[in-house]
Amino acid sequence: MIHKKRLGILTGGGDVPPLNALIKSVCKSAEKQDVDILGFWKGWEGFFLKDGFVNLRSNMIDERIGGTFLKTSRMNLEKVDNGVEKVLQRLQDLEIRALIVIGGEDTLSNALLLNGFPQILISKTIDNDVGKIESNKTMHNITNYFTLGFPTALRKITSFVCNEEGLRTTAYAHERIIIMESMGMHAGWLALSSILGKPDFIIIPEFPLDYNRFLSLVTERYLQKKHAIVVIAEGAKWDNGNYISCDYDEMDQFGHPCFRGAAEKLCTRMKKDLAPYFDTRNVNFVNPSYLYRCGMPCDLDYEWGKRLGQKAVELGVRPINESVFLSIQRNSRGFFVESYPVKDMGCTIEKFHRFVDDSFYNSGSFSATNRALEYFHLFE
Ligand code: F6P
Repeated sequence: MIHKKRLGILTGGGDVPPLNALIKSVCKSAEKQDVDILGFWKGWEGFFLKDGFVNLRSNMIDERIGGTFLKTSRMNLEKVDNGVEKVLQRLQDLEIRALIVIGGEDTLSNALLLNGFPQILISKTIDNDVGKIESNKTMHNITNYFTLGFPTALRKITSFVCNEEGLRTTAYAHERIIIMESMGMHAGWLALSSILGKPDFIIIPEFPLDYNRFLSLVTERYLQKKHAIVVIAEGAKWDNGNYISCDYDEMDQFGHPCFRGAAEKLCTRMKKDLAPYFDTRNVNFVNPSYLYRCGMPCDLDYEWGKRLGQKAVELGVRPINESVFLSIQRNSRGFFVESYPVKDMGCTIEKFHRFVDDSFYNSGSFSATNRALEYFHLFE
């Protein structure tokens, strides 16, 4: 018989740098209120492992280190025999009163399967694709302003292209066209945020690539400046709607193919088309890949990771009988955390999937709009 209140916590999907700050803040808040925290190893997988959880204490975790102390996985509960029932049984056996689920769209969609079990959902992903932008397109109608981890990744992608630290210097010195790949899966937020580092062109999945137009603009720019930087999102598509590069042999449990190689494919095509006029050694690509997710969190991510952790415990210790989504909102004083009952969101997590629209992206110039600049500057 357990007398202390007990909360569970797990992290799933791609890691982001502020996860340990969040987990530690959960532990610290819980310790102050004499609440136990059970951490499940490897996301939802922990429910199916022998010794699948740990009694978490704040002194186990270094909050400034990236990754996640609890480890992560991309398990789809619908692919496990009686997966949902087994998880619910385990939660009951362990006398857990609420579960804190930290993940992207896929990890959070598992949570929605546990109908009726109280959970606190927190979105984290460098893809920034969990949230909503209302159709009247004012800055104040964004639900969940950013996903945890996005600000750190934005700074990285900016530094990878900018004049001070990034590709620009070697591009102009060698008079090269350099194509850099971004992560982001089906969404173009991360690629588009590179606008802060001033690349010449950005290609994102939401707007299939008009290749001929793109090639003529790159050529024009090259003739003016003698170099060019192109950022392409991994999930970008050709004009016919086909992905530029994706590997269906490496699908994850949610059916996402492995996106990797868009920059290389585009580079190969451009080399071929430019060969009559251009030394093709001067068209290059680079893919920083996991470097976008690695390392320490920036201050903004660190701060909001901690605040989300505090809020999660604050809600979890109350008598709570429904699931809530913790959203980062913004008003004239800055960001704040607001909780929404999941049932009031009126949608599945999938419908809460946020994509770049034409108020953020100018497909004619392959660049970001002023609205996008205004938005991304918030995370600098
Ligand atoms: O969802 C986060 C993310 O980093 C995506 O941007 C990327 O496509 C994917 O994870 C990579 O997944 P994995 O870690 O399984 O290779």
